[in-house]
Amino acid sequence: MRILVVGSGGREHALCWAIAASPLCTKLLCAPGNAGIAQVAECVEVGAEDTAGQVALARREKIDFVVVGPEGPLVAGLADRLAEAGIKVFGPSAKAAQLEGSKGFTKDLCRRHNIPTAAYECFTDVAKAEAYIKAQGAPIVVKADGLAAGKGVVVAETEQQAIDAVRDMLAGNRFGTAGASVVIEEFMEGEEASLFALCDGEHALALAGAQDHKRVFDGDKGPNTGGMGAYSPAPILDAAMVERAMHEIVLPTIRGLKADGAPYKGVLYAGLMIGPKGPRLVEYNCRFGDPECQVLMMRLKSDIVPALMACADGGLDHFDLRWSDEAALTVVMAANGYPETYEKGSEIRNLEAAGKVEGVQIFHAGTRFSPDGKHVLANGGRVLNVTAMAPTVEEARSRAYRAVDLIDWPGGFCRHDIAWRAVARRP
Ligand code: AMP
Ligand code: GLY
Repeated sequence: MRILVVGSGGREHALCWAIAASPLCTKLLCAPGNAGIAQVAECVEVGAEDTAGQVALARREKIDFVVVGPEGPLVAGLADRLAEAGIKVFGPSAKAAQLEGSKGFTKDLCRRHNIPTAAYECFTDVAKAEAYIKAQGAPIVVKADGLAAGKGVVVAETEQQAIDAVRDMLAGNRFGTAGASVVIEEFMEGEEASLFALCDGEHALALAGAQDHKRVFDGDKGPNTGGMGAYSPAPILDAAMVERAMHEIVLPTIRGLKADGAPYKGVLYAGLMIGPKGPRLVEYNCRFGDPECQVLMMRLKSDIVPALMACADGGLDHFDLRWSDEAALTVVMAANGYPETYEKGSEIRNLEAAGKVEGVQIFHAGTRFSPDGKHVLANGGRVLNVTAMAPTVEEARSRAYRAVDLIDWPGGFCRHDIAWRAVARRP
C-alpha cells in the first residue's frame, strides 16, 4: 500500500516510524514532514492545512490510504474531501471532528447522553456570562468555543479573572470566530490523564493510556504549552479505570454521534479528570495527542496499519492490539522562549550519538535541513521528542535524559522532571 501521512510534528514522525515498519506499507509519503520524518518517509512540500493540495497529492501519487495527524485539516473537512475522491482515510469527518472543533458541541452531547463532565453553560452575550460567573463563583473555567491552538482555556482563580477572560474572548475578539461563543464550566479537581480509543463509527478499541505535562517549567509551573513530555502507561489509568471511562464516556459518545448521523472514525482522545467520583471528561480531541502518540507508538507491538485501516473500514470489534509491558517516556526539547516568542534556525548537533543510547528513539517535532542538507536546524517551538523505553519508568527517564545531555543545542531547553507523578507513585 502507498500511504500518505499529513502533518509535520513529532506525532507524525512517530506515526511514520510505526507505519514504515509495517510489511503492508510499500511506499510512505509525508506532507509536509520534517528533517526527522525524511529518514523514514519521502517528504512533499504541501501544507497540512492545504486541503486541495493534499487531495491533489494523494491522487497524483496514487495513495491507497491517508493518515491525518493534526486537528486543523480534519475540522476543515480533509477527511470528507478525500472520501469524496474515493481515497481511504484515517480521521473523522468535519462533522464528527466538531468534538474538538466546538467545545459547546461536545458539552451539549455530554448533556444529552449523561456523560460525566463539568457543569456548564454556553454564552455569546457578555452580560449574561458575567451574571453566570457571579452566580457560580470562583474557581471557574472559561473556554473559547472553537480551535485556539490550546490557548483558549482560562482556569480562573477569581471571578474577576473569569470576567476578564470572557470579555477578552467575546468582546476583545482575541480568538476571532473561535471566541465568538464561550463555554463557562465548573472547576474540576483531580488528576488528569489521556485515554485514546480507535473508533470505526460503531465500535471503539481502547489504546494504552498516557499522561502529559502541559506546563512549560519543572514542577508543573508556568504557562500551558502543547505538552512538554509524556509517558505511558499512566498509573492512574489502570484496566478498571479504562473500562469505566470507556463505558461511561467514550462508548456513549460513539453511539450518540452515530445516532446523529456523524459516525466517528479515527482516534478519539479523551482528556480525563480523575477525581473521587471517577473519571470525568475535560475535553475531546479528534487526533492523537502530541507528544502522547510518541510514547504509544514506542509501546505498540502490533502492526499499526491494519488497526488504522479498520477505523475506516469497520470491524474494530474483532481487533486486539499488543503492547509492551515496558514504560515509554518522552522529553520535549523546545526552542528557548517557547511558548512565547522564539527563534528558528539554530543548529542542533550530535543527534546521531544521542539516538544510539540504549532504548532511545528521537522523534523530530519541528526541524528542517539547512539548504546544503548537511545540518539539522530548529524550525518550530517544540523541536525534538527524546523518547526512551525501559522496564521501569525510572530507567526510561534516565535513558531519555542521557540522550538529552548528548544533544548539543544551546538554542533549546527541556523540563527535567517528566513523569514525576509516575516515579513518585512507585514503591
Ligand atoms: P483543554 O484545552 O480543554 O484541555 O484545557 C486545558 C487545560 O485546562 C486542561 O488540560 C486542564 O488542565 C485545564 N482544565 C480545563 N477544563 C477544566 C475544568 N473544568 N476543571 C479544571 N481544569 C480544567
Ligand atoms: N498533549 C496534548 C495535546 O496533544 O493536545
